[in-house]
Amino acid sequence: MRILLVSLLSAFLFIACVQEETVEEIYKGPETDKAVAVIHPTEGNDISGVVIFTQTDEGVRVEATVSGLPAESLHGFHIHEYGDCRASDATSAGGHFNPTGMPHGGPTDAERHLGDLGNLPTDEDGVATIDFVDEQLSLRGEHSIVGYAVIVHEDRDDLVSQPVGDAGPRKGCGVIGVANPDY
Ligand code: CU
Ligand code: ZN
Repeated sequence: MRILLVSLLSAFLFIACVQEETVEEIYKGPETDKAVAVIHPTEGNDISGVVIFTQTDEGVRVEATVSGLPAESLHGFHIHEYGDCRASDATSAGGHFNPTGMPHGGPTDAERHLGDLGNLPTDEDGVATIDFVDEQLSLRGEHSIVGYAVIVHEDRDDLVSQPVGDAGPRKGCGVIGVANPDY
């Protein structure tokens, strides 16, 4: 009788585990080696740009070029929690992408929103070019950034103020999607 109970219990646990695995597979985010966000201006602004995200062994390489910004200034640069740029001021993209429940910070802080990419620095022509590897980002797995939005702000992110670094209104918004590898 005891053996029968144990085997029934094992069979039951086995089925439960298999079901859990299936659920995880169904809800796994999109996975890719390369993603792209095309930045469109919010109402009253005239910025444009492209951000390329490439998966590397060290993390995700972020290459951004954004033009139409004020000269020689810093602009908050984040991934936001919804891939939704519908609102004319991009507030539809919600707050910062923060699946790990951390406070706002800078890109090299251990405690930060995953979406905290710091600032875009512009040159004398108002063009920002940046190229760095973020060790905490991923294009795969449950914290994949694919499907969310990149926002460029009017003001500098002070990397400290909660919850969004006091970076001001949103000047541009772009959804992170799977990139065409042949383009
Ligand atoms: Cu932001
Ligand atoms: Zn943040």
